[in-house]
Amino acid sequence: MSERRVLHLFICGAGPAARIHEMIDLAHDDGWDVYCVATESAVQHFLDVDAVAELSGHPVRTTYRRPGDTPTPNPDAVVVAPATYNTINKWAAGIADNYPLTQLAELTGLGVRIVALPFVNQALAANSTFIRSVAELRTSGVAVLFGPGEFEPHPPRTGDAAASRFPWKLALEAARQQA
Ligand SMILES: Cc1cc2nc3c(=O)[nH]c(=O)nc-3n(C[C@H](O)[C@H](O)[C@H](O)COP(=O)(O)O)c2cc1C
Repeated sequence: MSERRVLHLFICGAGPAARIHEMIDLAHDDGWDVYCVATESAVQHFLDVDAVAELSGHPVRTTYRRPGDTPTPNPDAVVVAPATYNTINKWAAGIADNYPLTQLAELTGLGVRIVALPFVNQALAANSTFIRSVAELRTSGVAVLFGPGEFEPHPPRTGDAAASRFPWKLALEAARQQA
């Protein structure tokens, strides 16, 4: 049994997902045992699942546990990073049509404090739906790190540069405060 604090890291399909090793390394240095959950889009477009499993030391979960699979320990903290426009809006609307969203719905309902670090460009962020979703998640107790000094949206088509300066550390600091 691990004595390290358990971090559940939810990875959505946006540019920083390809650099998730940066977050896992930071979390390990900070004393966390990291269990990754990835969306279908993250797996399809961004993640090397085998490399992430090797680095984290645990399988990357993308769907429900089958009989015989080792259960994932309960989290001391949950981070959703990068959190996409899609997942933020669906999560806030109560849609649970995939494994990560179902888990997030349960964790939110259980009152586990969750940190979400979005990665959206200025065009996506300007949608009133997104603004409402961020407010809704905050009302539910989710720490959404969006705004001045937190994640600030970048102009469209500058995602690569923005991903290289994605503020993983902010998510980790917030997780540390909550654990
Ligand atoms: C190359 C690529 C880059 C993308 N970048 C972003 C992004 O920066 N932010 C975002 O919210 N969605 C981005 N998307 C779109 C999401 O992947 C898409 O909305 C997907 O449905 C998200 O699914 P998920 O929320 O389940 O991960 C990108 C997709 C691709 C293929």
